Amino acid sequence: MSVVVNGTAAAGEPAAGQCLRTFLREQGWYGVKKGCDAGDCGACTVHVDGVPVHSCVYPAVRADGRSVTTVEGLADGDTLHPVQQRFLDAQGFQCGFCTAGLVMTVAALDETQRGDLPRALKGNLCRCTGYRAIRDALDGVRHVADPAVGTTDGTDGGPGGPAVGGNVAAPAARQIVTGTARFTFDVDVPGLTHLKLVRSTVPHARIVDVDTDDAMRVPGVLAVLTHHDCPDRRYSTAQHENPREDPADTRLLDDVVRFVGQRVAAVVAETEAAAETAAALVRVSYQPLPAVFDPAAAMLPGAPVLHDLDPAVSGIARPADNVAGEVHGEIGDVDRALADADEVYTTTFRTQRVQHAHLETHGAVAWPEPDGGLTVRSSTQTPYLTRRALARLFGLPAEKVRVVAGRVGGGFGGKQEMLVEDVTALAALRTGRPVKLEFTRAEQFTAATTRHPFRTRVTVAGRRDGTLTAIRLHVVADTGAYGNHGPAVLAHGCSESVALYKCPNKQVDGWSVYTNTVPAGAFRGYGLGQVSFAVESAVDELARRLGFDPVAFRARNVIGPQDPLVTPVGHDDTVRVHSYGLDQCLELIQRARTETWQEDAAAGWLVGDGMAVAMIATGPPGGHHGRARVTLDADGGYQLDIGMAEFGNGSTTVHRQLVADALTTTVDRVRIRQSDTALVGHDTGAFASTGTVVAGTAAQRAALALRDVLVDAAARATGVDRRDCRLDGAAVRCAGRRVDLVDLARAASAAGRPLTADGHADGAHRSVAFDAHWFRVAVDPDSGEIRILRSVHSADAGTVLNPMQCRGQVEGGVAQALGAALAEHVDIDDHGRVVTDDFRSYHLPTYADVPLTEVLFARTSDPLGPAGAKSMSESPFNPVAAALANALRDATGIRFTDLPFTSDRVWDRLQRGRADGE
Ligand code: FES
Repeated sequence: MSVVVNGTAAAGEPAAGQCLRTFLREQGWYGVKKGCDAGDCGACTVHVDGVPVHSCVYPAVRADGRSVTTVEGLADGDTLHPVQQRFLDAQGFQCGFCTAGLVMTVAALDETQRGDLPRALKGNLCRCTGYRAIRDALDGVRHVADPAVGTTDGTDGGPGGPAVGGNVAAPAARQIVTGTARFTFDVDVPGLTHLKLVRSTVPHARIVDVDTDDAMRVPGVLAVLTHHDCPDRRYSTAQHENPREDPADTRLLDDVVRFVGQRVAAVVAETEAAAETAAALVRVSYQPLPAVFDPAAAMLPGAPVLHDLDPAVSGIARPADNVAGEVHGEIGDVDRALADADEVYTTTFRTQRVQHAHLETHGAVAWPEPDGGLTVRSSTQTPYLTRRALARLFGLPAEKVRVVAGRVGGGFGGKQEMLVEDVTALAALRTGRPVKLEFTRAEQFTAATTRHPFRTRVTVAGRRDGTLTAIRLHVVADTGAYGNHGPAVLAHGCSESVALYKCPNKQVDGWSVYTNTVPAGAFRGYGLGQVSFAVESAVDELARRLGFDPVAFRARNVIGPQDPLVTPVGHDDTVRVHSYGLDQCLELIQRARTETWQEDAAAGWLVGDGMAVAMIATGPPGGHHGRARVTLDADGGYQLDIGMAEFGNGSTTVHRQLVADALTTTVDRVRIRQSDTALVGHDTGAFASTGTVVAGTAAQRAALALRDVLVDAAARATGVDRRDCRLDGAAVRCAGRRVDLVDLARAASAAGRPLTADGHADGAHRSVAFDAHWFRVAVDPDSGEIRILRSVHSADAGTVLNPMQCRGQVEGGVAQALGAALAEHVDIDDHGRVVTDDFRSYHLPTYADVPLTEVLFARTSDPLGPAGAKSMSESPFNPVAAALANALRDATGIRFTDLPFTSDRVWDRLQRGRADGE
């Protein structure tokens, strides 16, 4: 075969049936990504003779005699293609995993196609941005004046621009638009072998036998590993600083399967094809056990027990009742408050399973080191905790295990989980070879984690004067077959959602329950999205029934700046309101509601509006540590070493801004080395909204400490009192004398004492961020279709360190929440099988589906956060579903209680008519 790729003749021949995507990647064109391998997501888009194709469904042999262009071949030398430049100027990405495909699709559009972007881009999915940043890129919006440095719009920041408060570009921006950013598998690993998993076909069974003979006879197969080959230790796939937060209920390979899709065996082979062929030949004999799929049924006497383990050892609350964890508590007297109330409202709300659907699936490569150690390159949000978990599992000293995260293609909490590293490590240690495991999209749906489905019965009560007097929650959360994150998600969901109100009588009873279904796990919002949907819907209904405007009712009942955060599920001393912008959030929403604008509702459609509020604490109560080191380099620039991984949330961009600000320089002078346990200091991980506040504080502290080190060194060099010395860009000025940083670095190097400083933050004290969302919607009574006429989100993120990026976090969170509120649902059939296992059956929002959201920031400054910042990565998700439900209620008169609000469900309810309350 003769094919030219980016102007160079490709080497080798494709294998029979090989797709162009894998052929191109074998040639080293790593800009061609795998998102689905089904032609649905567009991450693999390339041009064949100038025509864009999804290379995952394009046979490689069809490229014979043709010219192929990947994103790496689009630029003309150092001059970017205009589309790449636009994505760079607008910073039209977050994790960047979709970007190469989008750039290639857009670069091939003609004028007609450009005039209909919703249609033209329907084959390219982005899970992170909510498409606004992409729309900006296509519109030629320039958010960063200099993509290498970044200056803020309309602000005179001087050369290089202001470090903090500016629209600073992501450090990897140019690599992302050129396809040269290195994600997990974008590296050459000599001698690589491939792992495929044999997965359970039944929901609950004891494994009687695993026959591996036929599989072992497949040429190229190196090993078939079963429960006989792995350590007999139980752990949790969830990763927290305190491992006791999660039940230790999981074995690497178990002799009991508890959901369809659980690992049974691991096949390692020289090629992916051989591993796949052999995996299909492994024969598993099961002794079936009774299964239970409903959490309420699972708690009943006589239900099948999933984990018969000692609670004291496993940390499972009540194994015999399938209760992984539970929360109970009351403050005040709820019964009395209900008896005394003028209005009481009770209803049950249900939320569904939703998949993270990050475009980069779970994956890892593990290889043994000559000294007996182990290295794992993984798509993880928690490299340090994964290292600790692997070291414990395999009985290795921690320093013998190295975990490295390249750029991570999205996570949203899904990669705060050890789903691939353990089994790849086992295979590498057993075979002595490098081993790769990359989930398929189907595995992502059937065997990775989901959002926990919640059934929340809410009772709220109030008085005619507009006072909320009681909140009672009865919550059943389905944790699936394993308890990873289950108890913590339940507790978190029942915390800030209730603490947001200063209501004196509160009661919570909640259970996180095992069922024989795919396990749930951490997901943006960590339970708050589910419970807030219920509480904010119920509070809204109560306000209506008491005759109050929903915004005014909330303004009257939410906590103020001095109020304690009171929840019945345990007092937490570490969190309080250190800065308060909820009043501004409500004012911003109220202003938007009363503005006039062009409304575009078709005749006969029902129109209404609704809002909801949310609060979230930064960081987990169990502790969260970040360490950073900043070093003066020989060229007078700086190196920031930091443990936190970058998965598109933009933490690295902000870390660089904070360091540059502290060292009075520009961000282009700060290089970053991150998320490699062998090279940088400990970080608990990129989760719990800690990227800016915890790791950012560590980076800022390291930079400020280095500033003192540099001033001291200059003072010593000049003999000037240090109080008369100050750092000023590339030099320290001491009483009129200038000491170049380059000279300081040279002298330090000659003395063998590099100029460096460390910073640490422990997240021991926590503040809260606030969000409010408002929708105006139109509903077609003939079809149930919902159209969003206006979407406004106000957020209290403290000092906004990077407005463009923070806005992007809000837009992405809102888009993800809208997907969950309107369409997304992981369906499980009567046999426990996930049936929505691809992007065609699981509808992810496309460019056409996501409305524009106006993002408005409160003006506050938080004393705990670096430069006054608070978190804003998870929180925008949380009020969205309730705001939409409340708008639907306003439009239709019907209280919608079950997510998602698909048009058939809405139509059905409209047909049945108004049925408020119970
Ligand atoms: Fe589009 Fe992450 S930036 S998928």
